[in-house]
Amino acid sequence: MDRNFYTFYSPLQSEEEFRILKDLSEDLSYVIYSLRVREEKEKINKAYEKIFKISPIGLIEVDLSEIKNFMKELLNEKLDFPSEEEFLQFFEEFMKKLRIIRMNEEVYKIFEIEDRTDAEKNRVGFIKNNLEILKENLFYISLPPLLYEREITIYTLKKNKKTLKIRAVPFPGCEEEPSHVIFVIMDITEEKESIQKINRLLNQVVETLAEIVEKRDPYTAGHQKRVAKLAFFIGKEMGLSEEKLKGLYMAGLLHDIGKIAVPTDILNKPGKLDPIEFELIKKHPEVGYEILKNIEFPYPVAEIVLEHHERINGSGYPKGLKDGDILIEARILAVSDVVEAMSSHRPYRPAFPLETALREISEKKGILYDEEVVDACIKLFKEKNFRFE
Ligand SMILES: [Fe+2]
Repeated sequence: MDRNFYTFYSPLQSEEEFRILKDLSEDLSYVIYSLRVREEKEKINKAYEKIFKISPIGLIEVDLSEIKNFMKELLNEKLDFPSEEEFLQFFEEFMKKLRIIRMNEEVYKIFEIEDRTDAEKNRVGFIKNNLEILKENLFYISLPPLLYEREITIYTLKKNKKTLKIRAVPFPGCEEEPSHVIFVIMDITEEKESIQKINRLLNQVVETLAEIVEKRDPYTAGHQKRVAKLAFFIGKEMGLSEEKLKGLYMAGLLHDIGKIAVPTDILNKPGKLDPIEFELIKKHPEVGYEILKNIEFPYPVAEIVLEHHERINGSGYPKGLKDGDILIEARILAVSDVVEAMSSHRPYRPAFPLETALREISEKKGILYDEEVVDACIKLFKEKNFRFE
């Protein structure tokens, strides 16, 4: 036998013996490794068990691999369900394929599942109560549900309406395996309702404030509402965000609130105003700002009101701001204000025809009024048939 490297350093005599032992030790270390992994996995599993138990949020751990294949086949056949029956069948099949590994107590509470023994009945009940919602969300259901978050309104098994925030996250440690997912489900029904309540309250307060101003100035009754409406549609035409549109509408309803500080005999004066009276009237954007600045509107209402008499060339008041330094909402309000005022009757003059008002803003386009705003306003009246009432 050759004295090679192994035999030289090993007390063992044959190479054969050495190999056997080497294999054995490799097997053994693999067994030990597997046991450790299993032990680790069990530890992790127990930790998750605990988290699932104590979590105040709904958690569902699922294996989506079967669903994925099912959806793939279905997408190949193109989703087309002519009858309710077929839809029901589809969702039943779908829910069966959703392999739930575990879910916590909170999920039962959220979906108001009382009888836990009859999974089949619960499944069918849920599908029937939510058929329309499931249909609408089919697109999202068929997406690989990694890291998405959606707000969805569903009906529980007791047919109560609930708003849920659902987030799908890969099971920790299984990021490579996107079929193993945890759905985190939060019931935000109460939160949503209280936000809606606050919004309703805010709207009522704004409308009441608007009415108070107009009570003192009966000639301009309804002026703010009409200005708000036109401003809203101009903003929409210009593609303003929903948030900005809400702020714009609110500012429209309140833009003349500062006139509360102007004596009624000046407000209702039939003739021309003298310079002192006019100076008093010119204070109304600032007074309005002072009144509104401490109300925590979700939008910059006070600032928009402050700037609604600013003009593009800097000739406006109170600050003489120019162009882009004026809030876009204020530039829109300026145009709506003029168009509405000109097309309404005043104690000292009859209403101008709409054409005259539109000509006025056209002629002063880019000088007093924002070009894009004027274009959108004219388009609304001429092409989209906008009317104040
Ligand atoms: Fe004004």
